[in-house]
Amino acid sequence: MTNKCKTCPDSNQLLERRTLLKAALGMVVGLQTLDFVAAQEMDPKTAPPKEGDQFVFIFGDKKGEIITPKDLPLNAPQVLAYPMDPKTRVVKDGSRFNRILLIHLDPAELSEETRAHSADGILAYSAICTHQACDVAGWEDVKKIFICPCHESLYDPKDGAKVIAGPAPRKLAALPLKVGDGVLMAAGGFLGSVGPKRSL
Ligand code: FES
Repeated sequence: MTNKCKTCPDSNQLLERRTLLKAALGMVVGLQTLDFVAAQEMDPKTAPPKEGDQFVFIFGDKKGEIITPKDLPLNAPQVLAYPMDPKTRVVKDGSRFNRILLIHLDPAELSEETRAHSADGILAYSAICTHQACDVAGWEDVKKIFICPCHESLYDPKDGAKVIAGPAPRKLAALPLKVGDGVLMAAGGFLGSVGPKRSL
């Protein structure tokens, strides 16, 4: 004699329900991903930097003002900036992942590839650490390297912001620059991925 529950679902029914549940969850995650991507595409404040964008100060007395080459003295610490669409004047501060480091170094000290992305020695990189997404806000002015204050990853801006110490797994994404009529602007979008690898 078996002790089978007559009202309980059998194993086939349970399997079918699990499959349906997984499919439903997959659809929800998929829709959320599409929502996120669509929001990024539709919201100009979260759109990533693109060619022609200018830059504004994030902090300090000049917060919100446009950054010119004169605001970036040679070998001074990096300045944190958000990109700004010059046509609409929209500052793209709707996402931390748009934070950018601007720094001015001697072109003669830059690797060939790094110099090619610079505007007369002015360089731009993503400010988001590739380890755990802190702002790479520290600066060491003897070796001229960026320091992430969270777990002390060191990046060399003279050589494509490659990692020279610490737990960061990848270099910072570079943003190519150009100067036209004294205006500093992006010459394209980010080269490489910004911040830690993200799952949406
Ligand atoms: S978040 Fe930058 S080193 Fe950990």
